Amino acid sequence: MWFTHQPVSTAWLKREIAATRPDLRFAFSRPGLTTFKIDPAVAAEPISSFARAHGRSIGRATNVDEALAHAASLPSAPLVRLHVFERDPDRPADERDPAIAGTRAAALDAAVRAAAPGRFADEVEAKAGDLVLDLIVAPAEEDDDGIFVGWHRHDATRGPFAGGVGHVAIPAHAPSRAWAKIEEAIRWSGLVPKAGEVAIEIGSAPGGASLALLERGLHVHGVDPGAMDPRVLAYAGAGGNRFTHHAVPAAEVAKKDLPKTYEWLASDVNLAPMVALKYVERFVALAHGGLRGAFITLKLNDDGVFEALPRLATRIAKLGAARVRYTQLPSHRSEIVAILEW
Ligand SMILES: C[S@@+](CC[C@H](N)C(=O)[O-])C[C@H]1O[C@@H](n2cnc3c(N)ncnc32)[C@H](O)[C@@H]1O
Repeated sequence: MWFTHQPVSTAWLKREIAATRPDLRFAFSRPGLTTFKIDPAVAAEPISSFARAHGRSIGRATNVDEALAHAASLPSAPLVRLHVFERDPDRPADERDPAIAGTRAAALDAAVRAAAPGRFADEVEAKAGDLVLDLIVAPAEEDDDGIFVGWHRHDATRGPFAGGVGHVAIPAHAPSRAWAKIEEAIRWSGLVPKAGEVAIEIGSAPGGASLALLERGLHVHGVDPGAMDPRVLAYAGAGGNRFTHHAVPAAEVAKKDLPKTYEWLASDVNLAPMVALKYVERFVALAHGGLRGAFITLKLNDDGVFEALPRLATRIAKLGAARVRYTQLPSHRSEIVAILEW
């Protein structure tokens, strides 16, 4: 089995897998890629709150021909999708040089497709049940250390793009990194808010995530005593959607000042997750059953929070969502996201 993740989370990923799946044995790792031995007869695949994608290992290759020879061990129908990606470098994704990041994976992707015309679907985004060949290489800024070859059958426990989801560049007009965090969460989960829907964000200042949701056509209510960026406050969407600021702590927003119901809840407060969850619980209740989804950022500042994750997950499970998934996105720093779907 292989998992792709942020290099800083390696120890936590290994501890989580050791606790939840003692049947797995650590095999080897590179920064951003950790592998385990699993009994091939065991169908149930482990998941990790820190992984963006995971799958089965096939082997190592030094060139396109060897990688394709490994791929020959996979069934050819249904059509195999190709995911070529670079491991996360040991630095925040938004500090990578955009002229270099991804170039090694792009060159390999082109070479594999040229060497095996028609073998892979052109579209990268995987659909449920798709068989995907994964080719994982070192970040383009670092020395080449060959090709790690794996595969997975796509399902909702991993993102549908190469490596789960790629880093979404923060646009120049975005007031904060949270613009990329919410966009990556939407792409990784496939849980896509629709224009005209209503979102509440707890911890909305200065407004990167709120702006991303406004740009998707949502009406957004932001709850934060901090100052919102003027571009968010002045936003006027083509569909008449706007931003409403509740400039008070989450515990102090009066019920009468909120919309009667809302489809989306985002939480990105810089508070311990045990405290942040109290507010999430209140705002889930205030949505009166209308929620479609929630993106809850959990700040992981130390080992204590890591150890509390199972207890936090128990509380999150009680929010009544039909499905809860966890991941750590390329734009995250000392945080993960819980993605809930009703
Ligand atoms: C990481 S920032 C949020 C970034 C924001 N999501 C964005 O898109 O730009 C954390 C925010 O949590 C807010 N915060 C902290 N405690 C809060 C509380 N009790 N209620 C509401 N907001 C709170 C802080 O004021 C701060 O603006």
